[in-house]
Amino acid sequence: MRKKIVAGNWKMNKTRNEAIALVNGIVEGVSKLKISENVQVILAPPFPFLESVFQLSKNSSRISVAAQNCHSEEKGAYTGEVAASMLESIGVSHVILGHSERRAYFNEDNNFLAKKVKAVLKNNLKPIFCCGEILAEREKGNHFNIVKTQLEEGLFVLNSEEIQNTIIAYEPVWAIGTGVTASSEQAQEMHAFIRGLIKEKYGDNIAGNYTILYGGSCNAKNARELFANTDVDGGLIGGASLIANDFITIVDSF
Ligand code: PGA
Repeated sequence: MRKKIVAGNWKMNKTRNEAIALVNGIVEGVSKLKISENVQVILAPPFPFLESVFQLSKNSSRISVAAQNCHSEEKGAYTGEVAASMLESIGVSHVILGHSERRAYFNEDNNFLAKKVKAVLKNNLKPIFCCGEILAEREKGNHFNIVKTQLEEGLFVLNSEEIQNTIIAYEPVWAIGTGVTASSEQAQEMHAFIRGLIKEKYGDNIAGNYTILYGGSCNAKNARELFANTDVDGGLIGGASLIANDFITIVDSF
């Protein structure tokens, strides 16, 4: 059965005490929800808080912890970088890869991302692979091609067994942090397209069970409408994941 997921990408926000207050609020809020067993929550705090967030949420079977990035190499002279094996050793289970901010500000391209995807899987972690077009690409009608290339080069280098341990987040860049969310139709259209690509490459069964998240100004007000679409299996939430009550409302939106 296809998993429904709400993932909170905290980006570069919160001090230690704030992070602890937020995770405690989310753990408590999630424990009170009457939601299907099929709904999973993933929290992606900054690196310094990963272990605390894991420790404070580990008794909640619903909540997993993700890193926002990692390096492609196993270890060595890469000052300032973090390896997938380090993340695995502190309880992290997922890693966000290819977020548009990493692509834009840190020049991460699809080939580098493909290496990261492999490193993450090798360490028994699951990549949450982000894709999405910028506004100019959508205006030119090029958004499907852009997303297809990002997936083909960055993610579809995996075999059938590996791909099942990955999640895709479609995040139109023009919707991230802008308050301009994709319409329900735009989200569904792209998600159906992505599921079609998975089907072409990996077959019906894998495509049918595959989780595709929407990200970009998804909030407590619009999550229900977005998640109601057949091919939208949840969200990758930025701004609205920083407020426990808003995030809980989104988790409760299926
Ligand atoms: P946003 O960010 O919800 O603040 O638009 C989403 C994301 O970048 O993952």
